[in-house]
Amino acid sequence: MTHAAAGRTVRVLVLGHTAEPGGAELALVRLCSALGAGFDVRVVLLADGPLVARLAMTGVHVSVLPADRDLVTASRGSVGAASWRDLRRVLAAARTVAGLCRAVRAVRPDVVHTTTLKTHVLGLVAGRLCGVPVVWYVHDRVADDYLPARAVRVLRWLARHGPRAVLANSRATAATLPGVRDLTVAYPGFAPEQALAVLPAPRGTGRAPVVGIVGRLGPTKGQLELVRAMPAVLDRHPDAVLRCVGAPVFGAEEYAREVVREARRLGVDGHVELTGFVADPAAALDELTVCVHASPVPEPFGQVVVEAVVRGVPVVATDAGGVPEILRDGDEPLGRLVPPGDVDALARAVVAVLDDVPAALAVARRAHAAALGRFDVATTARTVSAVWRRAARPRPARARRRTA
Ligand code: GLC
Repeated sequence: MTHAAAGRTVRVLVLGHTAEPGGAELALVRLCSALGAGFDVRVVLLADGPLVARLAMTGVHVSVLPADRDLVTASRGSVGAASWRDLRRVLAAARTVAGLCRAVRAVRPDVVHTTTLKTHVLGLVAGRLCGVPVVWYVHDRVADDYLPARAVRVLRWLARHGPRAVLANSRATAATLPGVRDLTVAYPGFAPEQALAVLPAPRGTGRAPVVGIVGRLGPTKGQLELVRAMPAVLDRHPDAVLRCVGAPVFGAEEYAREVVREARRLGVDGHVELTGFVADPAAALDELTVCVHASPVPEPFGQVVVEAVVRGVPVVATDAGGVPEILRDGDEPLGRLVPPGDVDALARAVVAVLDDVPAALAVARRAHAAALGRFDVATTARTVSAVWRRAARPRPARARRRTA
C-alpha cells in the first residue's frame, strides 16, 4: 500500500452504487472536475449507466463492477426489512464485497471513499478487510423519517466505529450522525459554469409567470404538493404556469403519472408542463420567475436550491434538512421558507413572490452574493482533499508496527 505523506499523490478509490445521475452522483462529477493536482482518483460503480461517461469526462478512471440488480436498486425503505429477499441480498452483498476487495487490491488506494448508503456499508467491509482507511461522504440524513429505524441504528453505529473520517453534505446531515469523532461538513458546491458571476439588472419580461420545480421527479421531491398548490396560485395569477423540469429516475415513473393525473383532477393540467430530462438545467432555471423546492421530507442538502440561487432566481423552499443552511444568513432570510408538506403555505409563498417580483428579486440578489463564496465547488474540493490527506496518513501505532 502506498502511504501518502503530505505532498505525495494520494490515490483514492471512490465507490458509488448507481450510475443514474442523482444528486450525490452529480456532486461527485463536479468534485472530480474540481480536484487539484495531487490526487489520483479511480471510481468504481456497481452498475452501468449515464454517470460513467460523465465521470470519465472529468478525467478520472471509471470502471463498473456489476452487482446484483436487486442490491443496486433496493429502495431506502426496504433496507433491513427482514425477509427471504434479505438473505438473497446478503449473498449478493458478499459477492460484491469480494469483487470490491479485488478492486482495492488491484488499485492499491490510500483511501477508499464511499458516496452512498449501500457503498458506505459494502466499501467499509472491503476497506477494512484490505487494511485501507475508509472515508464516508454522507449525502443522506441517517434518521428515522428517511430510513427504517433498524438501518439508522446500524449505520450510526458503523459511522462511529468504521470509517477513518466522515464527511456530511450539510450540518443537518451531520446532526444525524451523533458521536462520530472525525466529522466534517462539505457542502456540495456548484461548478463555475452553473453560476452567473454578475446578475443582470432586473427588467420586466412581460411574460406569464413561470413557477418551476427542477430536479428528478419523485415522492421525496414534492412535485405533487406543488401541483396541489396550483389552484390557489391560479386564483390570483391566472396566467401562471407550473413547469416540472426533470425526469423520473430511481423507478419514479408511476409517481410522474400520478402528478399528471392530479393536475387533471384539479383542472390545472392546462397550466402544468412536464419537460422531462433537460441537458442544461441552468438555462431552464433562467426561464423561471420563481424556483420551488417542495420536498415534503427533510432534504439532506438541496443542491438545486443553490443552483437557483446562483442564477439569481427567487426561491420558495420547504424549511427542513439542509435547505435553511442555504436560504438563511444568520437571521436574514434569503428566500421564502415554508413548512414541509403544507400545500397552503406553499401556495401562499408562491403567490407572495408573484405579487411582488421586484421585492423577491432583491432578496435573490442577496442570496446570490452570499452563495457565491459559500457554495462553490472549489471549497468542496479543498475540504474533501484535506480529509483525504489526513485519512491517508498511517496512524502512528500502525506506522510503528511497520518499521519494527
Ligand atoms: C443527495 C441528497 C440531496 C443532496 C445531494 C448532494 O441527493 O438527497 O439533498 O443535495 O445528495 O449532496
